[in-house]
Amino acid sequence: MRTQVAIIGAGPSGLLLGQLLHKAGIDAIVIERQTGEYVLGRIRAGVLEQVAVELLEEAGVSNRLHKEGLVHNGFDINFGNDHLHIDLKKLTGGKTVTVYGQTEVTKDLMDARAASGLPTIYGAEDVSVHDFDTKNPKVRYTLNGQQHEISCDFIAGCDGFHGVCRASIPENSIKEYERVYPFGWLGLLADTPPVSEELIYAKHDDGFYLCSMRSETRSRYYLQCDLTEKVEDWSDQRFWDELRRRLGPELGPKLVTGASLEKSIAPLRSFVAEPLRFGNMFLAGDAGHIVPPTGAKGLNLAASDIRYLSLALIEYYQEKSESGINAYSQKALARIWKGERFSWWMTTLLHNFPNQSGFDNKIQRAEFEYLASSEHAQRVLAENYVGLDYK
Ligand code: FAD
Ligand code: PHB
Repeated sequence: MRTQVAIIGAGPSGLLLGQLLHKAGIDAIVIERQTGEYVLGRIRAGVLEQVAVELLEEAGVSNRLHKEGLVHNGFDINFGNDHLHIDLKKLTGGKTVTVYGQTEVTKDLMDARAASGLPTIYGAEDVSVHDFDTKNPKVRYTLNGQQHEISCDFIAGCDGFHGVCRASIPENSIKEYERVYPFGWLGLLADTPPVSEELIYAKHDDGFYLCSMRSETRSRYYLQCDLTEKVEDWSDQRFWDELRRRLGPELGPKLVTGASLEKSIAPLRSFVAEPLRFGNMFLAGDAGHIVPPTGAKGLNLAASDIRYLSLALIEYYQEKSESGINAYSQKALARIWKGERFSWWMTTLLHNFPNQSGFDNKIQRAEFEYLASSEHAQRVLAENYVGLDYK
């Protein structure tokens, strides 16, 4: 088999790249190790930046997003007993975010791909990438016990943090920057109306919590937890009791509880690999970088990588110019590091760190009070949260 671009991974990065390339008449095959149902079963991101929504419009997959997505003009930060409303729309001159689950984005992209009859190989085993430092890279995999090989011009490594692409780059050709946080998020999804119309990010003496949603009838909540915690030890009742307690006397009684649809623990990590290109293989999305979910930036950074990469590949094929692919890594990393900074900042402001000193508590409190008292500071937060312009 031969294609122009072999895309490894059918998460949002891989599928969006496939869709944008298809619109430009460029051939691609997507190779995914899981089944489609498995990919759709992973509950992840919920908030899309305005620029990410615009990119999905450009890709022609925004009909359902505009029908079912919830446009949010702001969110709340609760710090102890203090509340701060961040009016995103006012602070950014009219920008907003859209609450629409990653599952739905992925489903829309899968449906568009299937409707155009484009090839996606699900359930591929032992995927490996070869000769990507030459003009004739290859991808090998096993399907139903049979070995296959695809030769291509480029490999797009959209295979997430644990994928094979980054791991195949020689160690001395890549530099990794990392911070692992000493806590995780315990998440719960339930068909219950959200406790508040907008998201609430909160710092409580016993840890961070987040009240989010997928729709007006489906809630997504998170609690900061220890990395030693096990999901099996968290009955729904225990989760709801703890969340109600952290919500406090004003909001707690408003919490509507119900059976969980999903519960999971996610570790928190900041990570960047540099560069994002090795020969004719590119890394995009979680394959190249991870942010803690506190700023809602992971999926949004994956989208901006894909915008830069798709434009670079289109320029290569349509104008026979390598300047776009040569600039990809640097261009994408410039935006990624700003997302890393913002996510690290939100995480540091709102979580309890083990052995946190009195000084650390005072600094967190001062940071919150500065934010609450300064429209400039709120503007900085809002500008980052709605998403920095694609440059
Ligand atoms: P992935 O979604 O990880 O997709 C990679 C794909 O590659 C997977 O399907 C995987 O099965 C496949 N793969 C892996 N290895 C191989 C292999 N060897 N061969 C073939 N295929 C392979 N981001 C936001 O922007 N906003 C949020 O609100 C937000 N909330 C989050 C909440 C949680 C709890 C978590 C865990 C994440 C959150 N994120 C959020 C981050 C976001 O989900 C990720 O950044 C996003 O999934 C990245 O997409 P991706 O396509 O790059 O990677
Ligand atoms: C979510 O709804 O899953 C979500 C929302 C905002 C975040 C992280 C996760 O910052």
